[in-house]
Amino acid sequence: MKVMTVVGARPNLMKATPLMWAMKNTPGMESVLVHTGQHYDDALDAVFFRELGLPRPDYHLGVGSGSHAYQVAQVMVKLEKLLQEVDPDWLVVVGDINSTMAASLAAAKLLVPLAHVESGLRSFDRAMPEEVNRVVTDALANLLFVTEKSGVVNLRQEGVTRFLNGGEPIFQVTDDLVATLSGFGQDFPSVRLGAFVGNVMIDTLLHFRERASREARISFPDRDFALLTLHRPGNVDNKFILQDILGALQEVSRELPVLFPCHPRTRLRLKEYHLEDYCQPVTLPLTKAFPDHAVLLLEPLGYLDFLNLMSQARLILTDSGGIQEEATLLGVPCLTLRENTERPVTLSEGTNTLVGHDPHNIVQGARNALTGKSGTGAQPVLWDGHAAQRVVKIIEAAGVRQRP
Ligand code: UD1
Repeated sequence: MKVMTVVGARPNLMKATPLMWAMKNTPGMESVLVHTGQHYDDALDAVFFRELGLPRPDYHLGVGSGSHAYQVAQVMVKLEKLLQEVDPDWLVVVGDINSTMAASLAAAKLLVPLAHVESGLRSFDRAMPEEVNRVVTDALANLLFVTEKSGVVNLRQEGVTRFLNGGEPIFQVTDDLVATLSGFGQDFPSVRLGAFVGNVMIDTLLHFRERASREARISFPDRDFALLTLHRPGNVDNKFILQDILGALQEVSRELPVLFPCHPRTRLRLKEYHLEDYCQPVTLPLTKAFPDHAVLLLEPLGYLDFLNLMSQARLILTDSGGIQEEATLLGVPCLTLRENTERPVTLSEGTNTLVGHDPHNIVQGARNALTGKSGTGAQPVLWDGHAAQRVVKIIEAAGVRQRP
């Protein structure tokens, strides 16, 4: 059985990693890894392959940066050719980036069975490019692997009627469940089957947590600091919004220093909008003697350094999707600089609070978190380190592609 997995950008890599492990441990399963090239910088890409021990991609599509239509079109054209050459039984996509949606479209048009890992998440905000990617990918996927209960509810609303184990958490892929998958091929291509299996990104976090605390190059176990990421177009592509956020962060930095590993897109905007003075650039390796009251601008960090800083931070501020989940698992208070989240379990059971980009809310949210007035966090169901094994076992049971 041949399974092709597509990755394109940083947040895909920690999700694909445990899938690669599980596929390797499945006799008779041949894994083919494809990188679209959406991210290409060492700091956003290669460092993760090295640290996570991801195998070198079997194919690299070299797509690079560009408009959304350009990226999606490039991935589709190049992947279509590759799918015809490699002829996999399954295409697996993860997350919600442009590469995810483009790969899904290419597979669906060629009648290659499609599995989406991290399915069903919805912000209900179509202004977010990722929301469009999620909706399209889930409309096409044949197997939909869900991380949290809200995903089951959302998919049901969008017409997915069949769920393994009735949509309840699948702790173990039993022989009975495997048996229910035996007719999968006959229903293809119209079949849409959901499975609530847990969170593969958390598999990776749990696997690397110890190692990050030993091997990280930057580590401040005895200093208070906040950790910030900011790269979403809605926050950084508008000068006034970005300026408001930076003003609030300066205010927060009066309480404790803010470490800010900066995405290239945000760095570009800081320069373009002449907002660089809000931050103090520092170079790596950062020593313990960093200033007390500043927003400290760093290069993007690798996986181990960032994971270690997340677990040591007193507070995380972010507009990322995955970091909300990682903060919940680590029990670190998280302020999400967005009006909504597609990951509501991080609000109901985790440490997450939505503060948007209003400066007052950001500052007040930080004060609340620093005085212990935020959720302490719990481990959401199935975020237990075994999600990828479940995913791969279910794909294996769904079987090889029926070719005409
Ligand atoms: C993409 C994902 C986003 C994810 C983020 C993680 C989409 C729609 N967005 O956003 O969901 O949270 O990755 O980082 O797919 N650039 C570089 N080097 C690179 C790649 C990009 O400098 O290796 C710069 C370029 O100026 C590029 C810009 O970043 O134009 C944006 O890159 P792009 O891949 O389009 O989106 P991200 O903002 O990274």
